[in-house]
Amino acid sequence: MPNAPTTISIKATPIPAKVQRFFTPCPRGLEQALADELAALGAQSIDPTDGGVGFTGNFTLGYKVCLWSRIASRVLWQLAEAEYRHEEEIYKLARNIDWPHLFSANETIRVQVDAIRSPLTSLEFVTLRVKDAIVDAFRAAMASRPSVNTSQPDMRIHVFLTAYKATVYLDLAGEALFKRGYRREGLAAPLRENLAAGMLALKGWKGQTPLLDPMCGSGTILTEAAMIAMNIAPGAQRPFAFEKLRNYDAETFAAMRDKAQSEVRPLPANLLFGNDLNTEAIDVTKRHLQNIGGAATSDAVTLTQQRAETLTKPAASGLLLTNPPYGERMEELASLKAWYPALGAWLKREMAGWKACFITADRELPSGLGFKPNKKTPLFNGALDCRLFEIELYAGSKREPKPQGGMPLEHQRGFRERS
Ligand SMILES: C[S@@+](CC[C@H](N)C(=O)[O-])C[C@H]1O[C@@H](n2cnc3c(N)ncnc32)[C@H](O)[C@@H]1O
Repeated sequence: MPNAPTTISIKATPIPAKVQRFFTPCPRGLEQALADELAALGAQSIDPTDGGVGFTGNFTLGYKVCLWSRIASRVLWQLAEAEYRHEEEIYKLARNIDWPHLFSANETIRVQVDAIRSPLTSLEFVTLRVKDAIVDAFRAAMASRPSVNTSQPDMRIHVFLTAYKATVYLDLAGEALFKRGYRREGLAAPLRENLAAGMLALKGWKGQTPLLDPMCGSGTILTEAAMIAMNIAPGAQRPFAFEKLRNYDAETFAAMRDKAQSEVRPLPANLLFGNDLNTEAIDVTKRHLQNIGGAATSDAVTLTQQRAETLTKPAASGLLLTNPPYGERMEELASLKAWYPALGAWLKREMAGWKACFITADRELPSGLGFKPNKKTPLFNGALDCRLFEIELYAGSKREPKPQGGMPLEHQRGFRERS
């Protein structure tokens, strides 16, 4: 039997000098918002497609996107791409990557394969062969090899197959980017953090106009909004997989983090307003706000605990953005539907001058409220197929009441009613 090669000392290949290709997956429906965010971060050749955005840039742009993207779920660095017809060609593609120069054999790995219209019958088999290719590359270079950890791997390798092309990526983020680090306790049904940030981006909210979440739950929308208003980098509090790569440029990343830290602003008062029926929700929201910016941040947010439909308008105009409860069981759905008219009446009575946006899986919400939405945007909250409904609650001044008779009162006040 041939002797196994002894462990050799491997020097990191330096940070690649030439332009690199990346792919950032995101919640479906937010591709264009992510493309805009990537452009602002300096990405080139930006290419939004279903479920994510491809782009190019120098290698350390990958660090910057991990630190600053509020909408991306991951940052995948493209290592290799080729046409394939069967599993062994994918094995060879992965085997030709110089894995031992990328990370140490002490790091654990996980391979994930996704495919659209691939002719291959078993993605599990492809997963296994790519894992074999990585292990074989280590075995050829040293005595040790990385082991597999499917729940908390150090290195995540993603393979994407189309009908004829295979692409191998290394995930620079590690844990998904929506795990910012401020959520340390759960309440039922929280929104994904990057979905909340993405909705704020879709509505053009940049921290200048009042924002109200009247059913804030654990405060995801408010916490993401606070981070935007304060210019806090969403990744400021968490580690990334790229810090474990052999070529990790600690100095460059420390400079990025320090610069981000030095640009944080305090949260102005009277900008963010949150409310929930449930006391525990308010307590959790407060803690999430404290986790991002201490007591000063949570004190700057006005939090109340009452029924949404009894709230007083906190400012003359602003953005109401919320994720109302939706019933999964029939009885819950029935009681929700019975409550919608009261919520709609409150919007008409109290919230003129505001734009109200609701993300929900219930397509009947606007008609239940008694409005025709100005806009509806398909969005996914995890696997849940939702719509973001927008209702413009025009202030009285927008439309002059007709001098006499004719129009019903609500129309005179300029509300956009359901037709
Ligand atoms: C789907 S959850 C919101 C989750 C939140 N977006 C998050 O990320 O944690 C809906 C919230 O609406 C609250 N709620 C239900 N009916 C309410 C009402 N009439 N007034 C105020 N809050 C209400 C519930 O207590 C719950 O926290």
